[in-house]
Amino acid sequence: MPMFSVKTKYAQPQDQQHQQTRQKGSRDCHDWLTLLISALVPLMIGIFTVVITIQQQSSADRQRQQEQQQADSLQKERILSSCLDDIAKLLLTKEVSTDNKTLLYIRTRTLSSLRKLDPERKYHLLLFLYESQLLQYDKTKRHDRLTLNLAGADLNYIYITKLKSFNNLSLPGVYLNNASFINCQLQHSRFADSAMNDIRFTNSFLLETRFSRCSLERADFRNTTLAQVSFKSAILRHADFTRAWTKGADFTNADLDGALITEQQLQEAGLLDNARLPNGSFAKIQEKNLVINGENFGCHTELPSSWSAKVDVIKAFQHYRSSLNCYFGIANLSSLDPISIAQSIALTDYSVLIDSGKAEYSFSGLFGGNAYAKITFFTSTAVKAGKNIMIGLDDRQNETEAILFQHKLGAIPLDTRQLVLIIYFEKIPEGKHDFAVFDNVQFSIKKKDMI
Ligand SMILES: *[C@@H]1O[C@H](CO)[C@@H](O)[C@H](O)[C@H]1NC(C)=O
Ligand SMILES: *[C@@H]1O[C@H](CO)[C@@H](O)[C@H](O)[C@H]1NC(C)=O
Ligand SMILES: *[C@@H]1O[C@H](CO)[C@@H](O)[C@H](O)[C@H]1NC(C)=O
Ligand SMILES: *[C@@H]1O[C@H](CO)[C@@H](O)[C@H](O)[C@H]1NC(C)=O
Ligand SMILES: *[C@@H]1O[C@H](CO)[C@@H](O)[C@H](O)[C@H]1NC(C)=O
Ligand SMILES: *[C@@H]1O[C@H](CO)[C@@H](O)[C@H](O)[C@H]1NC(C)=O
Ligand SMILES: *[C@@H]1O[C@H](CO)[C@@H](O)[C@H](O)[C@H]1NC(C)=O
Repeated sequence: MPMFSVKTKYAQPQDQQHQQTRQKGSRDCHDWLTLLISALVPLMIGIFTVVITIQQQSSADRQRQQEQQQADSLQKERILSSCLDDIAKLLLTKEVSTDNKTLLYIRTRTLSSLRKLDPERKYHLLLFLYESQLLQYDKTKRHDRLTLNLAGADLNYIYITKLKSFNNLSLPGVYLNNASFINCQLQHSRFADSAMNDIRFTNSFLLETRFSRCSLERADFRNTTLAQVSFKSAILRHADFTRAWTKGADFTNADLDGALITEQQLQEAGLLDNARLPNGSFAKIQEKNLVINGENFGCHTELPSSWSAKVDVIKAFQHYRSSLNCYFGIANLSSLDPISIAQSIALTDYSVLIDSGKAEYSFSGLFGGNAYAKITFFTSTAVKAGKNIMIGLDDRQNETEAILFQHKLGAIPLDTRQLVLIIYFEKIPEGKHDFAVFDNVQFSIKKKDMI
């Protein structure tokens, strides 16, 4: 090894004269050199050994990795083929059209397999289920199989291209983040409630496909045909619609904040109410009354089905006779226990406006005697949101026979998805009257006027 010869060379006595004149200094120097070299050599041997070892180790690591990958791949192949065999046998022997237990088994089998597979094998499993007609939606029920529910399936990063027909695919509630459907046919397919961020539909043909409530952030719809496609309540922030054909698409309550979509594409789509536009402003907000049968209530001979009440209680109601406008109420309240009627109202079509913090409610009605109303807001998971709102109890107890217009405005709490409206006919302790009457109850949503 060269290191040893270096040491030998420097250890040889040098020129005598030189050595004598500068004897002391040279000896010091020589000692130091010897010391240094004798320290350096083992150090370099050490470094050399370490380098070699690392090299050997990394090549061993590589080999191990390769072996591991091969083993993984083999394992995944086994999982896939055993899953396919299993389901194929069931399909041959069982009448899947009438047997929900079989379908449930297939669902469980598929979901657990999908969790362990890579995107390519996920695709093979999906294709098998689709071609077995287990994942095809058909309103006309032309084929005999029930549709498999794969909600919760992990299909992230799946890559599908140039498949001639993937029409009528039914995949609601799945995970398709970073997936690709490039050059695909997806007519009449259904993806409602799915997580599909960063998905690509480039150059695909979609007709009447449903994306209701899907999360489609940064989705790629370049060159995609999107005729009659429903994006109702879908999140499309920063989605790319370059050269997409949006004829008849439904963007009601969609969030298009930051999306690449032209004025013309939006106009072609037509349905845009309650949507947030690419520049962050809102399209027209539907300011209609959301209470069903809130008006002319007393004109109905029975309690309208939009309202609920205990059946025996409703018999005690009478049309309030002192008015021509079909007010609804009770004349002899003192003889009755407190009673109420209720209606639950979905606000899902306003979710983008509500969550932007810009939604304002307008709640009004005509109330007389002992009638009053209460509203409670709820999130999608039925958790109470914000404070209750009461109307009907203010400044009218001293009026005789008066039916007064009552009105309140306020902010709708974030995450609100529904409300429950209850109208009470209840003897108010300080009230003078025995009657309770209401009419024309209205609840509507508008955008707050920002200053
Ligand atoms: C199977 O489930 C579907 C949907 O849940 C239901 O409509 C159908 O009646 C069930 N069929 C049987 C045989 O249980
Ligand atoms: C696909 O769905 C559409 C609309 O529901 C239906 O008219 C059509 O027959 C279906 N096609 C197939 C192949 O099931
Ligand atoms: C999609 O993939 C990109 C790159 O791998 C990653 O940065 C991004 O977070 C992924 N998106 C989702 C929704 O998983
Ligand atoms: C869209 O179509 C145009 C013209 O047919 C083509 O030049 C372009 O590359 C396509 N874009 C994508 C993203 O495929
Ligand atoms: C936002 O975009 C819409 C539709 O493109 C347009 O009508 C509106 O004027 C824009 N608003 C602002 C503040 O730029
Ligand atoms: C209310 O009760 C009183 C006394 O019980 C009765 O005379 C009256 O007719 C009742 N009114 C109605 C509208 O039923
Ligand atoms: C109702 O009348 C009582 C007594 O006449 C009075 O004390 C009370 O302030 C009145 N309430 C309203 C809301 O006008």
